[in-house]
Amino acid sequence: MQFFLDTANIDEIRKYAAWGLVDGVTTNPSLIAKEGVKLETRIKEILEVVDGPVSSEVISTDVKGMVKEGLEYAKWGSNIFVKVPMTPDGLMAVQEFNKEGIATNVTLCFSPSQALMAAKAGATLVSPFVGRLDDISSDGMELIAKIVQIYETYEYETKVLVASIRHPEHVVESALLGADICTMPAGIFDKLIKHPLTDSGIEKFLSDWKTAKK
Ligand code: G3P
Repeated sequence: MQFFLDTANIDEIRKYAAWGLVDGVTTNPSLIAKEGVKLETRIKEILEVVDGPVSSEVISTDVKGMVKEGLEYAKWGSNIFVKVPMTPDGLMAVQEFNKEGIATNVTLCFSPSQALMAAKAGATLVSPFVGRLDDISSDGMELIAKIVQIYETYEYETKVLVASIRHPEHVVESALLGADICTMPAGIFDKLIKHPLTDSGIEKFLSDWKTAKK
């Protein structure tokens, strides 16, 4: 299973990339806006740190504009994934990017039918948002289970990138369901590795070691 960081904060990306466990990065307009930097500047900085897929999202809502933006993004690095919204124009743009050999990430997926359409369009990645579904008392993980089943049944090559992750259990459940990738805020990386029994175990080993004959 691959782990992506869902952030545009370069310090966070540098910190967790140093762990050697970051396979890629996803950004979106909200995350870029939070940083107060130009999208191009920040994406280029991320590309210097991360070799794996880096998703950069288009702002245009029409296919012509999306393709123009995506072609520009693709010049910044061979590992750029152009992120497009789950709309008819977005799915048309995916097909245009496929002709150019440019990888895509179809975002804002909230239903199995949307995921099916993204796969039929030939998206490289689809991003179902589990947290935002949970937020409205829907079941985010049930969506992942259905997408994984559909993609396996028809052997679609589109990879399932679980997004809008809120806690480590979203990651564990995604792994159990066979999702390909989880993209998560930096804090989740810490939580995935943390356990109070590990902390108290280390403390005990070290205090016992102090009393050992050396
Ligand atoms: O990048 C897309 C997605 O992960 C956003 O998550 O927390 O804004 O629902 P969130």
